[in-house]
Amino acid sequence: MKSVLDFAKWKEQGKKISMVTCYDTTTAKLVNGTTIDCILVGDSLAMTMHGHADTLPATPELMALHVAAVRRGAPEKFIIGDMPFLAHRGSLDSTLMAVAKLMQAGAQAVKIEGIKGSESVLAHIVDSGVPVMGHLGLTPQSLHAMGGFKVQATDERAAEWLLAQARAVEQAGCFAVVLECVPSDVAKFVTENIRIPTIGIGAGSATSGQVLVIQDLLGLNIDFQPRFVRRYLDGATLVREALNQYDRDVKTSEFPSQKESY
Ligand code: KIV
Repeated sequence: MKSVLDFAKWKEQGKKISMVTCYDTTTAKLVNGTTIDCILVGDSLAMTMHGHADTLPATPELMALHVAAVRRGAPEKFIIGDMPFLAHRGSLDSTLMAVAKLMQAGAQAVKIEGIKGSESVLAHIVDSGVPVMGHLGLTPQSLHAMGGFKVQATDERAAEWLLAQARAVEQAGCFAVVLECVPSDVAKFVTENIRIPTIGIGAGSATSGQVLVIQDLLGLNIDFQPRFVRRYLDGATLVREALNQYDRDVKTSEFPSQKESY
């Protein structure tokens, strides 16, 4: 099993880090049998698994349920649990309770969006023995403050600001940071100017690693094809064809056969 220490080693060695999101046991079992380095149980599950328009409805309890399901399916993978909307912005007690829920459900680390105003909270979680992954750039929990899902850090001042935030994440003791939807040259600039690895999504190829939402990379999310997603499978077509075949077989009494009956 990988540990948090591997992330620093991977950046030092220039070895790219692969991460996928995962939310359920069946899929986790599949990921467990691959060479993927780590799993993020992202709060994107509010959208992919529960049909919400954004990630805001996710709660620590919901995240913990999904972390536990993924842990049962992927006992050998390094799992990062996402701290949901505002879970680290209340009291220190409520923050630590949310962290505890994710860790006790089976995560080995938590991911937290943003750093401004949360520097000491992130450092406190790290000092409490919990590895923390940062998340900068497009931070979907701040969707309304950002005026929508938009590419971030598109001018020089914003790029400098992103680097300052990434340095603050590093200073807080985080072991890695997700950079979401920022220009490739900005992601490269940040990656080259901090010590911890960067994991990109919509951030070009110069980051230390990549993360994709598993439904996007398997082509299951038919309503969503942003520029940064590569579909490695036409999952939606394959699933639809299989379901139609089953429907035909039922209606023609082709299924079940004698071999499939008692
Ligand atoms: O919630 C999530 O899935 C994420 C990734 C897209 C980085 O935060």
